[in-house]
Amino acid sequence: MREEGLLTSEPTPEEEAFEAGLRPQTLSEFIGQIELKERLSILVEAARGRREPVDHVLFSGPPGLGKTTLASILAREMGAQLRMTSGPALERAGDLAAILSNVEAGDVMFIDEIHRLPRAVEEILYTAMEDFQLDIVVGKGAGASSIRLDLPPFSLVGATTRVGRVSAPLRDRFGYVARIDFYRPEDLDEIVRRSAGLMEIEVEPEGAAIIAARSRGTPRIANRLLRRVRDFADVRRDGVVDRQTAEEALQVFEVDEAGLDRVDRAILESMIHKFAGGPVGLSTLAIAVSEEQQTLEDAYEPFLIQTGFLQRTPRGRVATALAYRHLGLDVPAAIEQGKLL
Ligand SMILES: Nc1ncnc2c1ncn2[C@@H]1O[C@H](COP(=O)(O)OP(=O)(O)OP(=O)(O)O)[C@@H](O)[C@H]1O
Ligand SMILES: [Mg+2]
Repeated sequence: MREEGLLTSEPTPEEEAFEAGLRPQTLSEFIGQIELKERLSILVEAARGRREPVDHVLFSGPPGLGKTTLASILAREMGAQLRMTSGPALERAGDLAAILSNVEAGDVMFIDEIHRLPRAVEEILYTAMEDFQLDIVVGKGAGASSIRLDLPPFSLVGATTRVGRVSAPLRDRFGYVARIDFYRPEDLDEIVRRSAGLMEIEVEPEGAAIIAARSRGTPRIANRLLRRVRDFADVRRDGVVDRQTAEEALQVFEVDEAGLDRVDRAILESMIHKFAGGPVGLSTLAIAVSEEQQTLEDAYEPFLIQTGFLQRTPRGRVATALAYRHLGLDVPAAIEQGKLL
């Protein structure tokens, strides 16, 4: 079996249950993303003042940055009932119609992975979002007719790791499209310390800082690393997470100082050794490192680009001088001078 990336794999059901316990419940508990929180709180207050459901909101951003968390916070802040579903779960128009016809006034309906909604389902959503009406086709063939049902006003909250895959007509029907960016180290530091408090782990400030610095800007990864470091501290040390314990634990799990794991390094190494640093196409690269193309694009690439190890060019992906240096390799002159870009 292929080894999963420690950092970027999808959460297991066990991890999801654990995450639920750490999930902030209110906007004020939600750490970082200050501008985003400010805009959301304006949205919420205004809607509450008018006694209306909050506008439809779309959250986009890489996995683990808090999209699902924000959807449930939004519902809670509105005092609304949250109904959760996902793009792939809504296979046919009837699946969505069944859910919508049960929606109550003010409900927040959350559709995760909304970029994966089938076309026919998406089209039903348009009038539901815009006019709170549901068009259903009854019967088949020549005898088919369409009936229109009124829906109570509700809020649709969508989440996507791929905002580029959300069609323009759907995207345009959201009152607010919120992009969630990677977190700053000081925010991750606070997240690690908050989680440690909830999990009753003794963490020294330097230990928390090490974990924060290696969590690739991602709260889910910060929590994941904290758990791995706690295991190490409990089994091999005295349970306290100080600087040295954190460093040693992360070394055991092959998470380096930049927060890269084996798969990240395999990506960069393969670009450099097999493709002379690139440009290399995404599908070729995916085969070279035995990862799915989508995993590479959603989970690995955004962070490698953000940290400057990899660049996207019209001709493909290119390893940067920083990547060569990070792997302890000499930087070819052409790359140093940016000639391949
Ligand atoms: N701002 C934050 N402050 C504290 N903890 C956070 C924050 N954002 C996310 N988390 C933690 O990170 C975990 C992952 O967040 P969440 O499940 O909301 O991510 P997501 O964006 O929905 O990911 P995916 O794309 O995989 O669905 C949550 O369980 C929560 O504990
Ligand atoms: Mg989610």
